[in-house]
Amino acid sequence: MIDLLLGLQWGDEGKGKIVDVLTKDYDIIARFQGGPNAGHTLIFDGIKHVLHTIPSGIFHKTAINIVGNGVVIDPVIFKKELDNLAKYNLDFKTKLLISRKAHVILPTHRLLDAASEAMKGKAKIGSTLKGIGPTYMDKTGRNGFRIGDFELDNWKEKYQSLTKKHLKMIEFFDVELEFDLKELEIEFFEAVKVLKSLTFIDSEEYINNAITNGKTILAEGAQGSLLDVDFGTYPFVTSSNTTAAGACTGLGVAPNKIGKVFGIFKAYTTRVGSGPFPTELFDEDGATMAKVGQEFGATTGRPRRCGWLDLIALKYAVQINGVTRLMMMKGDVLSGFDTLKMCTSYNYQGKETFYLPYNIEEKNLSVNYTEIKGWKEDLTKMTTADELPKNLNDYIKYIEEFVGVPITVVSVGPDRKQTINK
Ligand code: GDP
Ligand code: IMO
Ligand code: MG
Repeated sequence: MIDLLLGLQWGDEGKGKIVDVLTKDYDIIARFQGGPNAGHTLIFDGIKHVLHTIPSGIFHKTAINIVGNGVVIDPVIFKKELDNLAKYNLDFKTKLLISRKAHVILPTHRLLDAASEAMKGKAKIGSTLKGIGPTYMDKTGRNGFRIGDFELDNWKEKYQSLTKKHLKMIEFFDVELEFDLKELEIEFFEAVKVLKSLTFIDSEEYINNAITNGKTILAEGAQGSLLDVDFGTYPFVTSSNTTAAGACTGLGVAPNKIGKVFGIFKAYTTRVGSGPFPTELFDEDGATMAKVGQEFGATTGRPRRCGWLDLIALKYAVQINGVTRLMMMKGDVLSGFDTLKMCTSYNYQGKETFYLPYNIEEKNLSVNYTEIKGWKEDLTKMTTADELPKNLNDYIKYIEEFVGVPITVVSVGPDRKQTINK
């Protein structure tokens, strides 16, 4: 069986931290979608690590880390990640395996991302500009360049012909874009050399054999359900399926091989980039969340927008993913609020609505809140469930009853150790 760990909001729920915490229980950690748009933060022994493409189980002695076929890989960023980890003497050759079917982000994919966003102007997605959209477009358009192509003698020809096409497309975008492709290519080819020194595998075969042999596997999601290309706030989404089904296609595992589905959410909500966000706060409360929660993007450094917890959106994500257990992150950030609010219904086209409708832009939708008493206690030093304040337990209970799934982990700080099992 394979367990899944998925973000249920707009990303940055704390997936990296929890995968790191859970890795001791697993033989294999596998990423199944997304790419270097992700930024997963791990903190232990006083050191902070941010991973973009490499799975968050990499620091553990025995776990095998797989970058699955559904992921898109930028060799340049991958090399930087490896360089950052060099001092830890990790055995990348045997512990980090890359699917031959994963697609490669070329320098011109990044340029296309920038050109596309520039042309959209005010309507831009707020992409991380890592080339994610153009790379997945080439994948579904059947023009993509895959990791396995690096094993072909003529891979450079394939690279050149795709790059040539991209340069024509960039011309089509009527925007000013300054770049020096020669320079980008020097960096790219250097990084490809490093990438080629790692181990490429047929990951679906590897993973299915591992399942047959009783190995324990955890699939690590990137982004969150509300950024899913089908079910998120389209078009302000990413270009992959971030939901449970994405793990099946992104690793080659059948639905009946999925075991537990861990859904992870923040005790409030954040979003980085453009797009609708019904419970967004523009007041003091939002500023407090941003400040106490240090809400800046782990990949781009952009400030994250903050707001109250949206239980309608959370329930929707629980449903789409078949979440069996919830994990609530950053409860510590809410300490000190007199009153907390949760969205428990919307007003949509003049009617009270209890599901996430097609069009959640501000002009179509407003939010109804339920208020609940806050707590003042500092949670960050707490280590057991019986220390948690009553008002926090009430907050948890309300969520559990609303969405119908138990919260089994409460995270009370960014460190590996600040994790309470309920
Ligand atoms: P991911 O993309 O889901 O892995 O999440 P990010 O790493 O992008 O963002 C989560 C941020 O919250 C990181 O800076 C974490 O160190 C931090 N974090 C995770 N859990 C907690 C928590 O329980 N409390 C606090 N205060 N910070 C947390
Ligand atoms: P992790 O895995 C938060 C957002 C971007 C933008 C939209 C599209 O760290 O949770 P893209 O680069 O995919 O074209 O951007 O999606 N986005 C994320 N937001 N966390 C992420 O990943 C994100 N990955 C993409 O900000 O709004
Ligand atoms: Mg992140």
